[in-house]
Amino acid sequence: MSLWTVHGGNRLCGTVKVQGSKNAVLPILAASLLTKGETVLENCPALLDVDASLDILRHLGCRTAREGDTVTIDSAALSDNRIPHELMGKMRSSVTYMGAILARTGEVRLSRPGGCELGSRPIDLHLKALRALGAEVDETGGEVYCRAETLHGAYINLDFPSVGATENIMLAACAAEGTTTVTNAAREPEICSLQDFLNAAGAKIHGAGTSTVVVEGFTPRGGVRHRVMSDRIAAATLTCACAAAGGEVELRDVRPEQMETVLSALREMGCGIVTGADCVHIRRQGALKAGRPIITKPYPGFPTDAQALLMAACLKAEGTSVFVENIFESRYRHVDELRRLGADIRTEGRVAMVYGVPALYGAHVTAGDLRGGAAMVIAGLSAEGETAIHDAGHILRGYAGLNTDLQSLGGSVILTE
Ligand code: EPZ
Repeated sequence: MSLWTVHGGNRLCGTVKVQGSKNAVLPILAASLLTKGETVLENCPALLDVDASLDILRHLGCRTAREGDTVTIDSAALSDNRIPHELMGKMRSSVTYMGAILARTGEVRLSRPGGCELGSRPIDLHLKALRALGAEVDETGGEVYCRAETLHGAYINLDFPSVGATENIMLAACAAEGTTTVTNAAREPEICSLQDFLNAAGAKIHGAGTSTVVVEGFTPRGGVRHRVMSDRIAAATLTCACAAAGGEVELRDVRPEQMETVLSALREMGCGIVTGADCVHIRRQGALKAGRPIITKPYPGFPTDAQALLMAACLKAEGTSVFVENIFESRYRHVDELRRLGADIRTEGRVAMVYGVPALYGAHVTAGDLRGGAAMVIAGLSAEGETAIHDAGHILRGYAGLNTDLQSLGGSVILTE
């Protein structure tokens, strides 16, 4: 795994374009199996998770190509409906291939996606929904097999507004006869972008962004050209980095309304933030101070993916910052590593208390997951001396160029393979 070396102490100044969204493009790559003709994705970020998804598409018989930020998929020659463990295990969101392959071929076999660093990450809501749509689902020996002669519309109420389950239902319901209504659906912006993509491909879906999504059918229309939306968590990462290091940064190609909870937390901590239609300007001059408790919730609440990022920015803030992680049962793996830098953090179940310290000191730390690794980069920017982040390959799963972005802003972040 790669090693990232961060030398702290530099303020960040300059302008950066925010990458395309990992969590928007991954379900759309699965959805490309439903298009009749070529799919062209613009602003597609160069991520390990995107590469893993393209590996799956090629394994299934699709043709894929990448030219810069433009990825093309032709799924006409699909020849398989099974995804082997070695491809499923590379990333969690491969689970959305279940709904897409079932819709396209009526049958799918894949290994259960890894319960990963954030907890068990079950898929019970996904499977319950597919059964409601008429699929026969068999789970044996770590494999999931789904089959459906025909899928029929259903009324599905999700016990939890699961992002992945909402996406899988939207994909599978495209092949269902009749209307499917999902209540307590996830409201994330990435759900809206999946709806836009599927409707451009010939679906008739409405309600994405609200708790009720309705899929009325699908009449394949030619190829689809789609520009991947901006990554609101990558944008949150850069704003938290500026808060931690100090300085003045302008983010371009970002939708501030999609990260309002993060921006208001940073304002409360003492950052100056001005937003435009597609830009965010953040300035941090004086000392930060602890704000109100950060309680993670489904969108539009505070995003769980930004919890570690904001925590890293709070480590030297005056006062005590409180975090409550409600989405995943074990998303504090970064805490022990941040303590190695001198942070004073106590955790009790879902609660983490961050007591501001006067200084942090560079150390050797190990990334356990994608956002935890990014949090270590942020903390290293505000630490004295050198921070070596081991197993930093996790970061490359979700960031197209966090190191080069921070370098362009004056940060010292060296990636050595
Ligand atoms: C998506 O994961 C994102 N990943 C995650 O981002 C994000 O943290 C998460 O949504 C929450 O916003 C992608 O979009 C690729 P969930 P997903 O289903 O779909 C429980 C990142 O860092 N649950 O909304 O897996 C589950 O255990 C990643 O970019 C069930 O119990 O999240 C969790 O506690 C990390 N049964 C909660 O729901 C199910 O069948 C939220 O999971 C499904 C989920």
